[in-house]
Parts: sequence; structure tokens; C-alpha cells
Amino acid sequence: MILVTGATGTVGREVVGQLLGMGQGVRALTRDPSKGGIDSKVEVIPGDLMKPDTLGKAVDGVEKIFSLATGAQIPAQEKNLAQAAKKAGVRHVVKLSVLGAGMGSKGTIPSWHEAGERAYQESGIAWTFIRPGSFMSNARSWAATIKSQGAVFSAFGDGRFPPIHPRDIASVAVKALTSPGHEGKAYPLTGPEALSVGQQVQIISEAIGKPIRYVPVTDEAAKDGMVKSGMPAFYADALLQLAGAVRAGGAAQVLPTVEQVTGRKGLTFTEWVRENVAVFR
Ligand SMILES: NC(=O)c1ccc[n+]([C@@H]2O[C@H](COP(=O)([O-])OP(=O)(O)OC[C@H]3O[C@@H](n4cnc5c(N)ncnc54)[C@H](OP(=O)(O)O)[C@@H]3O)[C@@H](O)[C@H]2O)c1
Repeated sequence: MILVTGATGTVGREVVGQLLGMGQGVRALTRDPSKGGIDSKVEVIPGDLMKPDTLGKAVDGVEKIFSLATGAQIPAQEKNLAQAAKKAGVRHVVKLSVLGAGMGSKGTIPSWHEAGERAYQESGIAWTFIRPGSFMSNARSWAATIKSQGAVFSAFGDGRFPPIHPRDIASVAVKALTSPGHEGKAYPLTGPEALSVGQQVQIISEAIGKPIRYVPVTDEAAKDGMVKSGMPAFYADALLQLAGAVRAGGAAQVLPTVEQVTGRKGLTFTEWVRENVAVFR
């Protein structure tokens, strides 16, 4: 049995689908089972990574875990899960981390994930860390202004970075969960091509058959927009650290890891847009 946390989210949903496709037994943790949307072949367990007493049932009889935690609570959430997993005799945890973690980054989000990684390293359970860069699906956050103003506003300037398809992240995680030889390894992952936000916007524009303006904005303006849309200010600051690195040209490297682990080329941004075009119409 494999426990998937974050099973209702972008990457976890893909992990669940791929594991089921291989005939694996899957259990999913969610804070709200009534939300639905999880395949009926999955055993759904209510639980909250912030509430350790809800995790015993989730890890009982589980051999492996796909661990996905979010935000500033990542260190606490993964410490709770590591302790429950250790107690239950779980053999292997594959943790979704972030590019930069364990690689000397001083960024806020990598530091949250480093603490999560440490929780598993200190637990004595075999671990694999999946460290992706920016998800292609982040482009979903542009849909509102594409529809309302025919424009995308971003603090990334003309800097390029290689966004990754969430399905490729899931494929690497599923390989690590279902084939031998991945214990004690960390996989930094990117998509197959470095693109500026302007280039990504152009690809979306061609897919919907409408012009979209790309408007570079300052960090202050970007933060204002993120906070107005409901994001906590500290989280907006953490994301803007990445925008600064991208503008400075420090985030353009394309890594070969997806192909090395899965044996196939990473999916392109054009393919992701084709699958998600309805979001932008
Ligand atoms: N976006 C990027 O560019 C990027 C890049 C690299 C790494 N990452 C990392 O990727 C992760 C986010 O992945 P995602 O986009 O797939 O997630 P997502 O779509 O935002 O979904 C979040 C998931 O976490 C679950 N969750 C949240 N709080 C929980 C709690 N207290 N207890 C149990 N479950 C909880 C939610 O489940 P329920 O609501 O059903 O409980 C949901 O399934 C983060 O760790 C982030 O740092 C993101």
C-alpha cells in the first residue's frame, strides 16, 4: 500500500493516477474527503498533517509514502508524518521538495523544504527527494487577467526558466516509488526548455487565437497584486525571491534528470497549454 499526501492537488493527483494505472494499492490523505474527485479505487483517509493524532490511521499498513506538504508549515507537517511513518514501520518516503533545497540556496521556500527533508533523513526511513523547479501549472494564475484584460503582469522580466509539467514530476516520483535503486537519492528536475514569461504568454496566445500583452511589473506591484488576490505577504515575498533569480539569469539551466529517470523526454510548455487551453479562454 502506498500513501499519497497532497492527493487532491496538482502533483498528487497525477501520482495517484499513475500508481493506479500500474495496479498499485493507493491510500490518499485529505483534510476533507467530502471534496471528492479522488478515484473510487483509492482508499481515502481523513487527516491533517498539522494534527499528528490523525496520521496513525493513514500510515497503518503502509509500505511507502509520497509526501507532499505545503507552505511555511512544511517543516512541522513533514516532522509529524516522519514520526508517524517511523512508528508504523514505513520503508520508503518519496518527498516532493523544491529545486535549490540541499543545494546551498538561501531562498525561503528551499529552507522550508530542507527542514522537511531533514525530518526524513533523521527518521532513519529510506528517502528519495524530488526537487522540481517552477511548475508549468503556475501559468493558471495568469488566466484571470488574460480573460479580463488580455494581459499578463509579471515580475519575472525577460529572464528565462524551464518550467516543468506536473505529470513529469509525478512520473519521476512514481519511478522512485515503484522501482529499486532510488533510496538516498535527490533528483533536481526542470522542464525541457528555458522560456521567458513573454514566450510562455506567446504560446498561450497562439493556443487561444487571441493577442495577449505581456507587461513586466516591479516586485512591489507584483506583491500588491498577489496580496490583493489573497496570498499572505510572507509567501508573496518568498515567490519574489525566485523572480529576482530569474531576472538575474540564474535560473535558466535545463536539467536532464526527467529523461534520465523516466527514459522519456520531458513534456513541453506547448503540450501543457494544449491540455489546459480551456483555462485561458
Ligand atoms: N508551484 C511550483 O512552481 C512549485 C515548484 C517546486 C516545488 N513546489 C512544491 O510543490 C508543493 C505543492 O504541490 P501542488 O501544487 O501539487 O499542491 P496543491 O495543488 O497546492 O495542493 C496542495 C495539497 O496539499 C494538501 N494539504 C494542504 N494542507 C494540508 C494539511 N494540513 N494536511 C494534509 N494535506 C494538506 C491539500 O489536500 P486537501 O486540501 O485535500 O487536504 C492538497 O492536496 C509545495 O510543497 C511546493 O513548495 C511547487
